[in-house]
Amino acid sequence: MTAIHILNGPNLNLLGQREPDIYGTDTLDAIKTACAAHAKANKIDLLFDQTNSEGELVDWIQRASADADALIINAAAYTHTSVALHDALKAADLFKVEIHLSNPHAREEFRHTSYLSAVVDGVIAGFGSAGYRLALDVAISKLRSDG
Ligand code: DQA
Repeated sequence: MTAIHILNGPNLNLLGQREPDIYGTDTLDAIKTACAAHAKANKIDLLFDQTNSEGELVDWIQRASADADALIINAAAYTHTSVALHDALKAADLFKVEIHLSNPHAREEFRHTSYLSAVVDGVIAGFGSAGYRLALDVAISKLRSDG
């Protein structure tokens, strides 16, 4: 069966209470439940994880090509700082989508740089929790078209 891994980085465990004017009111659990239902309806296995640790994200990215057919990643603040995530994603041979709830380009200047964007297939940002579903749809259609 086809599998998609969704990875979430630091502070995303606080969704729902953390700056709801920027990130919305959905909790990460609610996003996970919605993604799981959407994946199930499309006969896709879903792995969904969150960590505050950069090293753990690297470990999951390294395993992603073995565990899944596509990777969706919201690396949160590490997006703007992490050469380690850049290198891990560059080495990971699978379909990769970077997502953000907010639009980092419309925010502080330090959020305008992404160490991930150059080493993923595409980026979805600014559409709140709907971005997770959009990314799933993109990954599902890519995997279907590849057969
Ligand atoms: C974020 C945007 C990042 O700049 C920020 O550090 C986050 C969340 C987003 O989903 O909008 O923690 O990745």
